[in-house]
Amino acid sequence: MKLSSKAKTFIDLEEQYGAHNYHSLPVVLSRGKGCYLWDVDGKKYFDFLSAYSAVNQGHCHPKIVEALTEQAERLCLTSRAFYNDALGPYEQYIHDFFGYDKVLPMNSGAEAVETALKLARKWGYLKKGIPENQALIIGCEGNFHGRTVTIVSLSTDPDARTDYGPYTPGIEVIPYNNVAALAALLETKGDIIAAFLVEPIQGEAGVNVPDEGYLKACYDLCKQHNVLFIADEVQTGIARTGKMLCCDHEGVRPDIVILGKAISGGVLPVSAVLADDEVMLTIRPGEHGSTFGGFPLACRVATAALKVVKEEKLAERAEYLGKIFREEIARIESPFIRQIRGKGLLNAVIIEPHNGKEAWDVCLTMAENGLLAKPTHNHIIRFAPPLVITEAELRAAIAIIRNSIRSLE
Ligand SMILES: Cc1ncc(COP(=O)(O)O)c(C=O)c1O
Repeated sequence: MKLSSKAKTFIDLEEQYGAHNYHSLPVVLSRGKGCYLWDVDGKKYFDFLSAYSAVNQGHCHPKIVEALTEQAERLCLTSRAFYNDALGPYEQYIHDFFGYDKVLPMNSGAEAVETALKLARKWGYLKKGIPENQALIIGCEGNFHGRTVTIVSLSTDPDARTDYGPYTPGIEVIPYNNVAALAALLETKGDIIAAFLVEPIQGEAGVNVPDEGYLKACYDLCKQHNVLFIADEVQTGIARTGKMLCCDHEGVRPDIVILGKAISGGVLPVSAVLADDEVMLTIRPGEHGSTFGGFPLACRVATAALKVVKEEKLAERAEYLGKIFREEIARIESPFIRQIRGKGLLNAVIIEPHNGKEAWDVCLTMAENGLLAKPTHNHIIRFAPPLVITEAELRAAIAIIRNSIRSLE
């Protein structure tokens, strides 16, 4: 890809002064609106990453930005040392919206996952009666739950894990999409297992969609063994897969739901842990918290962002448009395309390397042609546009994908 000198200046600054913990596509963005992004040279792109599904409501949604600016002029942060007039109404809104007794507000997705794990351990000791320091958490191979030490202790991805030990104990990892593995572990160690943590679809692993019935079967097993079922819906939640929560597809109501990313429409780092009183009230004053968690700005922004999801029927749109996307991509006959999979507007194409070109080259060509997407795990390209994209825009984007792939054959 040819870079302008202006774009190169920004990339060089990151290279020189920033940690080298990302391998970004060489595009320098400066503006966004709806499903579009513009780079520093004014070139327009379809955004087919949505900041890893954080921008479901589209870039700079006017209602969310209005809530942000209105609140920013009045009060941004109080800490939880005091009460404020934004948190309570927000918590009530979340209660009514998702139907859980309580919410514990945090900031990043990883923090919310950590919070859920701490809650599960507390519950395990205080309610289930697991002997001190013996509680186990079960995770799944291929998971991605964030970057903290405990979370990477759960990871099976060498890039995420290597050289970050010693790892947090009390973790067992079983194959994903394997009910028998969960049943076997619950049978042998069920008495000391506090929770099963699962992504309803594994996003970072390459949009791994489990078999139909998997979530329900796992949930039922957890109930049989008095184990909490925790759904990490940070990437799959907030309408992305065609339902408000991905677990809704199977009528599963997790004991703990973890939300992040799109709960703020990508405007602020906002995350949340939802649970009923039996679980949530095991944490008492002083036992967990965060300076920013549930700050007034976040409360107003997240309320506005969730209202947009309902008003604009984003779950229904994701369901409808996702079908079109998969149908149309499946029609492209190309040696590059091995498989298309996904749910709603969380989809991935598995790329078969061809002519010495791989997923990264496909992404560079698509960027040149005006569409941004990013490979995950080398040979998989995730396609996840903002859910506000129209059918006509989606079809125009599919044409770019088709032409880009064809041009490399
Ligand atoms: C399923 C899942 N959980 C947790 C996280 C971590 O969120 P954050 O990057 O906000 O810490 C991610 C991020 O991609 C995710 O996809």
